[in-house]
Amino acid sequence: MKIYRAHDYKDMSRKAANIISAQIIMKPTCVLGLATGSSPIGIYAQLVDWYRKDDLDFSRVKTVNLDEYRGLSADNEQSYRYFMNEHLFSKVNIKNKNIHIPDGSNEDADAECRKYEEIIDTMNGIDLQLLGLGPNGHIGFNEPADCFTRKTHLVDLTESTIEANKRFFEDASQVPRQAYTMGIGTIMKARKILMVVEGEKKAEILKKALTEEVTPRVPASILQLHPDFTLVADDAALSLMNI
Ligand code: F6R
Repeated sequence: MKIYRAHDYKDMSRKAANIISAQIIMKPTCVLGLATGSSPIGIYAQLVDWYRKDDLDFSRVKTVNLDEYRGLSADNEQSYRYFMNEHLFSKVNIKNKNIHIPDGSNEDADAECRKYEEIIDTMNGIDLQLLGLGPNGHIGFNEPADCFTRKTHLVDLTESTIEANKRFFEDASQVPRQAYTMGIGTIMKARKILMVVEGEKKAEILKKALTEEVTPRVPASILQLHPDFTLVADDAALSLMNI
């Protein structure tokens, strides 16, 4: 496990964007696993900036996103597809055919999950997976559970996740109750994993995930077992860890 300390959100975003940028430069045809939420917004802004300065080329990059709310179509402003278009895809030269996000409007969960796993397999897996950390230790939408889930699946979101994500909606009642997410096995097969964590409110769960027992009750704890895992976190998030 490599841990890089950042002073603040901006510094964290820049450091993480550097790692993603290096991946794209070293392998222009790479497959990037991407995340939504507050944590990666600064990273995407930085990557867009470098693209505009002609320092990055997304023309052969392929992407797979971690998750999508079930019941929201791509043109719904709350969908993760919409978020990705807003923050990255519409601002760089990535090809539409190379963008993959679970189709939230597909009611057939088995078919959607199977299709998504096939897409990732066909691309020969993920080179670098970007992750945020949920307040309950979730990664993707893999919520605390009795066992780790291997593949892409449909999940019922926990109250804690609905509460944390309601800031993007009018109120909690508007947050979809289910989502499609890559499984823990899908995430762990990525050749590199990069997690970004910011703020004091995540300090306790970050410490628990990375320094205590590996358990599906704290899904991110599995990252301790990944052979190429990098964390970029700010001082506040690292404040309870002895590093
Ligand atoms: C988003 C995702 C989630 C978030 C996590 C942290 O695609 O899969 O696991 O990474 O909930 O969210 P933020 O960054 O908003 O604190």
